[in-house]
Amino acid sequence: TAEETLILVKPDGVARNLTGEILRRVEAKGYRIVDLKLVNADRTLLAEHYAEHEGKPFYEPLLEFMGSGPIVAVRASGNRVIEGFRALAGATDPTTAAPGTIRGDLGRDWGLAVQQNLVHGSDSTLSAERELGLWFA
Ligand code: CMP
Repeated sequence: TAEETLILVKPDGVARNLTGEILRRVEAKGYRIVDLKLVNADRTLLAEHYAEHEGKPFYEPLLEFMGSGPIVAVRASGNRVIEGFRALAGATDPTTAAPGTIRGDLGRDWGLAVQQNLVHGSDSTLSAERELGLWFA
């Protein structure tokens, strides 16, 4: 089933010049980029995006990190792209993310309070709709 997801290249990915490499993998897999922009996310947007994590120990460091530099926001489409991009991204922790995945190949544990793990991808059709509405209002 054709669907859409929100992909974010987080500030660490943009700062490390990995946007092209990350989007190359998305396109090589056969997914289509249907919208794309560079965003300096304000706190309001980030708080809405990460509402489910409010109160967790990494919440404040996460908002600070996500606001620390530009993010590339992408609307991508394809059959089962939500599940497919999460498979491309790999596990949250870059140390244990499988080699072959974006985080497994390119991510690194910097020993910080938040996982700087290069990318975000929506985790369900419901979150994809919600998140695309926030980032591409
Ligand atoms: P993301 O998929 O964007 O959603 C929440 C983010 O919080 C996650 O990627 C990581 O960047 C970060 N994160 C999740 N779990 C932890 C954790 N246990 N410790 C530190 N950071 C985390």
